[in-house]
Amino acid sequence: MNSMTAVILAAGRGTRMKSDIPKVLHNAAGMPLIKHVLAAVEAAGIDDICMVVGHGAEQVKACCGERYAYAVQQPQLGTGHAVQQALPYLTPGRDVLVLCGDTPLLDAATLGALRAQFAAAGADCTVLTARPADAAAYGRIVRGADGDIAAIVEYRDADDSLRAIGEVNSGVYCFRYAALTAVIDELKADNAQGELYLTDAVAAIKARGGRVSACVCADAEQIAGVNDRVQLAEAGKALWRRKARQLMADGVSILDPDSVYIDAGVSIGADTLIEPQAYIYGDTVIGSGCHIGPAVKIIDSVIGDGCDIGPFAYLRPGTRLGDKVKAGHFVEMKNAQIGNGSKVPHLSYIGDAVIGERSNIGCGTITCNYDGVHKHTTTIGDEVFVGSNSNFIAPVTVGDRASIAAGSTVTEDVPAGALAVARGRQYNSKDWARRKDPRYNKDK
Ligand code: UD1
Ligand code: CA
Repeated sequence: MNSMTAVILAAGRGTRMKSDIPKVLHNAAGMPLIKHVLAAVEAAGIDDICMVVGHGAEQVKACCGERYAYAVQQPQLGTGHAVQQALPYLTPGRDVLVLCGDTPLLDAATLGALRAQFAAAGADCTVLTARPADAAAYGRIVRGADGDIAAIVEYRDADDSLRAIGEVNSGVYCFRYAALTAVIDELKADNAQGELYLTDAVAAIKARGGRVSACVCADAEQIAGVNDRVQLAEAGKALWRRKARQLMADGVSILDPDSVYIDAGVSIGADTLIEPQAYIYGDTVIGSGCHIGPAVKIIDSVIGDGCDIGPFAYLRPGTRLGDKVKAGHFVEMKNAQIGNGSKVPHLSYIGDAVIGERSNIGCGTITCNYDGVHKHTTTIGDEVFVGSNSNFIAPVTVGDRASIAAGSTVTEDVPAGALAVARGRQYNSKDWARRKDPRYNKDK
């Protein structure tokens, strides 16, 4: 296929979001909308990318990075005006893919199909269209007698008969460079919003005798645009559903796919079982044969094979579990490395810690990692037995095969093989509690 320049429109305010954050930086399934679009474009093999930024331009640039060209649109006078700003970044003769930064469900396969259709039709412009169950406020596709697209009419400018059209504009187009540049400066703002609409380029190309074909996307979900918070939630849900389906296809069991929230970047091995209410975010990697959940939150962590997590576990960034590790119920970990076969079964906080292999960390153990100013590390060796309700005042190190008596507050290093007892001795005051109660003092 011909090489292309992708122009991603991301300058709009996103008024309907009612937000101080630029719309394209809102997250769907753990990633800003714009990054979903960039990922699809790059996965489609396009690396010549120009983003049009305006509202919150610096924030958008900071989020996306230096790798891309940025055209600045200031003020924002519509999608056609946005493309005008990108003209200096185009290469004469090179085809142009235009997309919006607010369509996070679009994937590389759909972009590939659009490009193939564009090439096969030999058109001057090919528009990606769809027939969603609810055509909502999308621009309507008006077909001519020849079957080509004659015009795109924005919802706000459409009368009832045009609004009745079920085929809508996705906002994604392939253009021949010459066709686009011939009409882009002729756009007029004679519409309900007083903006320069890119959609008007279609009729303008037709008027010059050009060909505008449609590539109809069978899966209408692909084109869903995010304009408000309801659509943002729906897009996130759809992305999570898609991820769950892909994981199941790869051999992961998910008891209730509608109740798990697994980000696109997460990888999970076969034969792992995910129970309901699992929130698995960021760059988390989970091995095979694990049992996760229910009600578990895992962020940017690496979990080996055969681990048992939850219920109600919270693994925060930097958690690294070896194989066959247990992080049981109401266990919180952060920046913690746990060796193969070690167990933290109940009610513990393990933060800034390194624990060796086959150690057992008793119920209610806490690594006291913060002295109010700095964070410190707790280091525990192999085959250590930590009795219940122990505290480790970091920095502190416990040697291999050491034991910690239940209820200890460990402030000093424990040598390998030693038993540390770090708690007050018990003192029993006889006849204390009920001393003055005659019912218990009859014999006196
Ligand atoms: C646009 C299309 C509509 C299509 C829909 C698909 C136009 C006129 N309408 O409508 O036919 O059905 O997308 O989702 O093109 N933007 C700029 N600068 C601007 C205005 C917008 O960069 O001056 C960017 C926005 O940041 C956004 C994208 O263009 O990423 C689309 O803008 P938006 O206002 O969401 O257009 P829609 O009303 O959804
Ligand atoms: Ca939109």
